[in-house]
Amino acid sequence: MTAIAVGADIALAVRGLRKSFQGGRVPVLQDVTLSIRSGERVALLGANGCGKSTLLRCMLRLIEPDAGTVDIGGVQVTGLRGRGLRRVRARVGLVFQKHNLVPRLSVLTNVLHGALARGLSFRVWRQSWAPAAERERALTCLDMVGLAHLADRRAGQLSGGQSQRVAIARALMQQPTTILADEPVASLDPVAADEVMEMFCRLVGQQGLTLVFVSHNLEHAVRYADRLIALRAGRIERDVPATGVQIEELRGLYE
Ligand SMILES: Nc1ncnc2c1ncn2[C@@H]1O[C@H](COP(=O)(O)OP(=O)(O)OP(=O)(O)O)[C@@H](O)[C@H]1O
Ligand SMILES: [Mg+2]
Repeated sequence: MTAIAVGADIALAVRGLRKSFQGGRVPVLQDVTLSIRSGERVALLGANGCGKSTLLRCMLRLIEPDAGTVDIGGVQVTGLRGRGLRRVRARVGLVFQKHNLVPRLSVLTNVLHGALARGLSFRVWRQSWAPAAERERALTCLDMVGLAHLADRRAGQLSGGQSQRVAIARALMQQPTTILADEPVASLDPVAADEVMEMFCRLVGQQGLTLVFVSHNLEHAVRYADRLIALRAGRIERDVPATGVQIEELRGLYE
């Protein structure tokens, strides 16, 4: 196989990434290098403040890194601006701990907003204006997360678990190739957290998406990821296949 073919299989590559805050006084990421294959599911672990969220944000340049490069789907994100940057970001779905739905709008409209990242215009802002094909797609995405029956409900009336499912449907609506999820179930009760994580990872697997998720739940990390990447003080401390890892060994990351 040629080097190019191998490279084409890499969904996300980060090289020499550095980031400090407050004029360099708070170094957060210190020379982070990793590469994630297409379809791989990676759990990003590490203690509070070790730089996980900063790393995810730097990957999409929602925070501007100080040095290093990021490639997504073979496109170098560092250096891109305007439309080029938007196009790359459109391929990456984001799911956060806080779902950020618009409470006064319907569930379906919130899902339709995922299409905005693909460059669809204001017509998707309101479900009654949306093109029929996009409405169909939004309903399909809602169905995937088991909530098609709540399409007309106002998002503000949903439970935390339902809201996070809608946020996942919105990310799928974007038709991403990669999903970055920052503690996607951290604010849910333990049963809802297990259910939502199970469903989320099943959908990601079915659609062959690449997933990087941050979690403090080591059971989730071992169960749902193929690979564990652990940061400590802004550096990669461990990068191992998830298979066979004992949860007890991982506790050392938090000492
Ligand atoms: N905008 C900012 N200005 C200054 N310092 C920041 C900023 N954002 C993050 N930091 C600092 O960078 C460090 C890493 O933060 P980050 O949010 O990436 O950690 P994390 O690994 O996601 O932690 P947690 O598990 O608590 O979510 C922390 O010390 C944090 O205080
Ligand atoms: Mg964080």
